[in-house]
Amino acid sequence: MSGTFLSFEGGEAAGKSVQAARLAESLDGRGREVVLTREPGGTPFAERIRDVLLHAREVDLAPEAQALLFSAARAQHTRDVIRPALAEGKIVIADRYFDSTLAYQGYGLGADLDGLRAMTRFAVGALVPQRTFLIDVPVAVTLSRLGARSGTARWDRFHGDDRAFYERVREGYLRLAAAEPGRFVVVDGDRLEEAVAADIRRQVDQLLGLPA
Ligand code: TYD
Repeated sequence: MSGTFLSFEGGEAAGKSVQAARLAESLDGRGREVVLTREPGGTPFAERIRDVLLHAREVDLAPEAQALLFSAARAQHTRDVIRPALAEGKIVIADRYFDSTLAYQGYGLGADLDGLRAMTRFAVGALVPQRTFLIDVPVAVTLSRLGARSGTARWDRFHGDDRAFYERVREGYLRLAAAEPGRFVVVDGDRLEEAVAADIRRQVDQLLGLPA
């Protein structure tokens, strides 16, 4: 791998996707080749899996089945998009990667964590992001942001008002971050978008050896 692999993680409505896009724009504006991609998705096949996972209300998916589907999409996305871009020396910014499965299906829904790790290894091999930005917000903020959006949105399996689930996901992410402090950067997402973006940009500039 000669490029740079960055991922963004966090609970619902943490502002992760906005921050991933802002970072991509900032690096692109400074002449770096960037591939911004999202999970579940990133390839036409994976987008179809995404639709079942998120929007098929009639299918009551077990956590293990969810994890296998997320991993199938991830295997395809990794082989078709992420690895080729890294091999070309690009910066890949993934809006969610395997930590989402550990946090949501593992900590959030109780699927076996060791099993999930083994499955991830099977799906993507040894590929691990060099930095993972965990955009952390309190669950009260998550719920109020989701409430504000709920009128217009399509039904979504992971958007509801289950506070305990969101608490477990958040706690899970913080544990993952504590276990790998060299990879994870925990960013306080309960601030102005601009302040969060500046923090992330500083960290990435340092990682890439870019002038401030
Ligand atoms: P998305 O609309 O992309 O939401 P977000 O902006 O929060 O990323 O939906 C992705 C949803 O899928 C999100 O609710 C988290 C969930 N998810 C998992 O449960 N496990 C996974 O492995 C991944 C990648 C996502």
